[in-house]
Amino acid sequence: MQYISGFGNECASEDPRCPSALPEGQNNPQVCPYNLYAEQLSGSAFTCPRSTNKRSWLYRILPSVSHKPFESIDQGHVTHNWDEVDPDPNQLRWKPFEIPKVSQKKMDFVSGLHTLCGAGDIRSNNGLAIHIFLCNTSMEDRCFYNSDGDFLIVPQKGKLLIYTEFGKMLVQPKEICVIQRGMRFSIDVFEETRGYILEVYGVHFELPDLGPIGANGLANPRDFLIPVAWYEDRQVPGGYTVINKYQGKLFAAKQNVSPFNVVAWHGNYTPYKYNLENFMVINAVAFDHADPSIFTVLTAKSLRPGVAIADFVIFPPRWGVADKTFRPPYYHRNCMSEFMGLIEGHYEAKQSGFLPGGGSLHSAMTPHGPDADCFEKASKAKLAPERTANGTMAFMFESSLSMAVTKWGLKTSNCLDENYYKCWMPLKSHFTSNSRNPAGLN
Ligand SMILES: [Fe+2]
Repeated sequence: MQYISGFGNECASEDPRCPSALPEGQNNPQVCPYNLYAEQLSGSAFTCPRSTNKRSWLYRILPSVSHKPFESIDQGHVTHNWDEVDPDPNQLRWKPFEIPKVSQKKMDFVSGLHTLCGAGDIRSNNGLAIHIFLCNTSMEDRCFYNSDGDFLIVPQKGKLLIYTEFGKMLVQPKEICVIQRGMRFSIDVFEETRGYILEVYGVHFELPDLGPIGANGLANPRDFLIPVAWYEDRQVPGGYTVINKYQGKLFAAKQNVSPFNVVAWHGNYTPYKYNLENFMVINAVAFDHADPSIFTVLTAKSLRPGVAIADFVIFPPRWGVADKTFRPPYYHRNCMSEFMGLIEGHYEAKQSGFLPGGGSLHSAMTPHGPDADCFEKASKAKLAPERTANGTMAFMFESSLSMAVTKWGLKTSNCLDENYYKCWMPLKSHFTSNSRNPAGLN
């Protein structure tokens, strides 16, 4: 696999089988090289300021419009109905979402999409959804595109070979990819495969500002990888199916050719991937905690300064060195909603119960924090420098919106852990009213 590197760059790529396929000096020649069609994909309003203006030009064998009409298809477990069940402010935790066996039911990336929670409104381009994908089969002569928003895909089990109009990407667990609004893609899988998706409506992911951190750090722009042009000139006699998520509903249209017929492209609106192991971790080196925003990989900003529709945050392996400090995450109530998932290993604040492929949701102002066992151990631990989160990769989708959980999330998935609250029940008072410092600590 070959890639171009750099976040949000203005790129140009040609399939090497057709050198000089990109028109020179203009976007719309009367006749394109190799008799290709020119097509623009706009990811922002034409009139957006330069810093946020996104578009790419695709030079393809046939334009995307060569398809029969879209028709409504079975929704499966995709929804944007946030009123399916009554709101539930409780701390929620899910056991690993079960992947169907291929012998029982064939499921590809699209039929395996399950909406877990979300908020906001698709039609006004403001909101988000969190989906779980559970699949065991490659998409065969089927592609998908989302008219509603961008997909940030976090594979947890099994790698994804993603065909896009811009080229191919291989995305493995501990890597993520973003496929932006309107981009057609098809996913091959190689085993029973599971992962998480953060969908944001109407905005795109950006690298967070670094402020006093300086010019370098966190996710560095050069580590984001963009596919290179690759095409297939493939006729599909039985009909190729293009699936579209539009206003939250699924539609399908037939066409006679593979949509991956882009011979060359240029622009700054592309899919991309990122290896989470490249994240440059910044943390407290004296005492106390930095807030978890210090671990933000990508952010989808709202119109309010400093407030995200959603942040993608990771908790990577690192050193814990803070002196005189309770080192696990602090007890917390947050105006933001926090969905957490685990790619591998054990999360530092919960040694059991929160498992790879599962999840948790701590909604707006719902209290959460280390379980009783973690509190007892960390309060007494001898504070030497130590590795934290070795062999693990937990992440958080954090949103300023108050999310609703779907019926699938609460009931149909059958993965909700009814006993989650019990991990905090053994917390006991250590209050010593007559002694400020009974342990003689500094
Ligand atoms: Fe929190």
